[in-house]
Amino acid sequence: MDWNPMNGPPAVTRLARYTASEFDEIRGDVLDPFEVKGSGLVWRPTEEHFGIRLDGRLVAHAGYVPVPLSVGGARFRATGVGSVIVAPGQRGRGLARTVVASAVEHGRGRGLEFGFLFCRPDRVPVYERLGWRLLKDNVRVDQPDGPIVMPLRSMWLPLREEAVWPSGPMRLLSLPM
Ligand SMILES: CC(C)(COP(=O)(O)OP(=O)(O)OC[C@H]1O[C@@H](n2cnc3c(N)ncnc32)[C@H](O)[C@@H]1OP(=O)(O)O)[C@@H](O)C(=O)NCCC(=O)NCCS
Repeated sequence: MDWNPMNGPPAVTRLARYTASEFDEIRGDVLDPFEVKGSGLVWRPTEEHFGIRLDGRLVAHAGYVPVPLSVGGARFRATGVGSVIVAPGQRGRGLARTVVASAVEHGRGRGLEFGFLFCRPDRVPVYERLGWRLLKDNVRVDQPDGPIVMPLRSMWLPLREEAVWPSGPMRLLSLPM
């Protein structure tokens, strides 16, 4: 399953589905790659799936789902990115960069102005390298028993040159992705 990064990144394909078996194929024997199981958070699935296969094995995935937000007085939908994962043996070679770019382009093509995602604090530098910006203030999100303050970091990405994240209280009007 070797490839030469000098020849450019491997092709991204749209996956017909992303279920537990596709997740298992990527994660290998790492039980909790996202390290958020302990948080008890309830998530929404992503809707469109961008993956990379090497020698027939799925090794990377990024999910896209449009998500409704209220920020200050403004209500809008953003390109929600979630379930970003690269197989342990393939990390550090630009595969996350490649699949995340595909998910982001999908949202941009749908006229959405912003990307939006949640991640653990130690993953923030990865997304910063991809141009995402950290939101310093809390974001409230839906959970089955009502809204809570999201314990993970929130990040946004401008999908147009002039896009500026609005100021004011932030609320994701859905479960997190
Ligand atoms: C996080 C993860 C998706 C990164 O995948 P990856 O394919 O190794 O990332 P890439 O090679 O595309 O790297 C993207 C950028 O982040 C940087 N980067 C990668 N891992 C990093 C780390 N642990 N700390 C800091 N920067 C990192 C890379 O140097 C690269 O920047 P550059 O191109 O400017 O050099 C992968 O480690 C993973 O699957 N982790 C487990 C699941 C997870 O945490 N997913 C994210 C949920 S929000």
